[in-house]
Amino acid sequence: DWKMANYIEEATQLIRDQVGNKRVILGLSGGVDSSVAAALIHRAIGDQLTCVFVDNGLLRLKERERVEQVFRDHFHVDLRVIKAGNRFLSALKGVTDPERKRKIIGKVFIDVFEDAVKSIGEVDFLAQGTLYPDVIESVAIDGNPAALIKSHHNVGGLPKRMRMKLLEPLRELFKDEVRRLGEELGLPKEMIWRHPFPGPGLGVRVMGEIKRKYLTILKQADAVLLDEMKRTGHYEKVWQAFCVFLPVKTVGVMGDERTYDYVVALRIVESQDAMTADWAHIPHNVLGVISNRIINEVEGVNRVVLDISSKPPSTIEWE
Ligand code: XMP
Repeated sequence: DWKMANYIEEATQLIRDQVGNKRVILGLSGGVDSSVAAALIHRAIGDQLTCVFVDNGLLRLKERERVEQVFRDHFHVDLRVIKAGNRFLSALKGVTDPERKRKIIGKVFIDVFEDAVKSIGEVDFLAQGTLYPDVIESVAIDGNPAALIKSHHNVGGLPKRMRMKLLEPLRELFKDEVRRLGEELGLPKEMIWRHPFPGPGLGVRVMGEIKRKYLTILKQADAVLLDEMKRTGHYEKVWQAFCVFLPVKTVGVMGDERTYDYVVALRIVESQDAMTADWAHIPHNVLGVISNRIINEVEGVNRVVLDISSKPPSTIEWE
């Protein structure tokens, strides 16, 4: 795609002009926008870019390893991985309210990220994967409660005291353009076409208080769901597919033993923009395999249920 190649040529030149010989830091989440921004900026300025990946302990199975593999091993990006799971979990101890959980996760993220920036030393630019729709939305926030509701979903807003200039090379692009750019830059397809994942991560998919044991169960169940969705070709057809952990125990039977274990719910939805959503009609045989595999492979689960509610009046996430 020569047009995209030209675009990369121009965009990298602009980044070089703006940055000069200064240093840039970028908070890498593993999502589409920050990944494409990282790959583009790295193409432009190489080791002047440092990426910081915060492992908050609320990520999907093998997520950190995957980011390390792509950005450190493949692209040779200067990647700092901060394992902060304990810090997040201690701050969340005893907390059950969904909005309080979000606030805590957002705040700890900023603290951890700030520490990382300090440890790197003199950094002049903070890079972000802001897209054109985000730009419009943040302008529209004044007096628009709908925009406000969405804005607090993003964990990205860093405090002004961090005195860095912003570098936002995707500011003029729409999502589909960012995906094409990412492909041209050589990012793996599966990273470019992945479902949206909330900033607070599995923190809002474990209902109520977050416990290590619950997270372990949820990660494994979720990995099985995604594996089957991809294997059967349904992953690309839906907006989001994920598991929700219910801290409810129910009775089951395994061999001739009685079990008393937890419940996992499947949430699979179709949507255009997440404002409204329908539960996806996945074939029963596919659902059957997912359920059997989760119950057989994930210790601590003996029951799987399917969420058949649409948005509105439900939301996509359970918290
Ligand atoms: P709801 O649950 O409000 O979700 O129907 C709509 C879309 O937003 C995502 N979502 C979030 N994303 N931080 C985020 O970055 C959040 O706190 C958050 N809550 C929901 C959700 O996954 C869906 O795509």
